[in-house]
Amino acid sequence: LSSTEIDISKIEVGQIVTVKWRGNPVFVRHRTPKEIKEAEDTPLADLKDPQTDAQRVQKPEWLVVIGICTHLGCVPLGHDGPYDGWRCPCHGSVYDVSGRIRSGPAPLNLAVPTYSFLTDTKVKIG
Ligand code: FES
Repeated sequence: LSSTEIDISKIEVGQIVTVKWRGNPVFVRHRTPKEIKEAEDTPLADLKDPQTDAQRVQKPEWLVVIGICTHLGCVPLGHDGPYDGWRCPCHGSVYDVSGRIRSGPAPLNLAVPTYSFLTDTKVKIG
């Protein structure tokens, strides 16, 4: 399947769900107000791969990213690391709550897949 539809109605605030898309993990994170504020308030100058949070999300509450570390392809662990975003278990790259690379050997932010909101509770990835 080149696209997949997911029901996000049961994903609690603060929860991260991993879905499969084209054989790869995709993280869907229902962000808290605090996480949204942290992501939006981060100065671009602090970022290795500078992107505003607004460039990475369609709705502030929902972050959708491909769950593959941009270093060598491990799957990062959620709610981990100093930003409580993700931390890669392989060589320690740290991502923030926008999936942006903050430290470690990974060069780029977690990639944002093509996706769209079909309804308020249904997302199509791909
Ligand atoms: Fe993630 Fe190396 S594969 S830090």
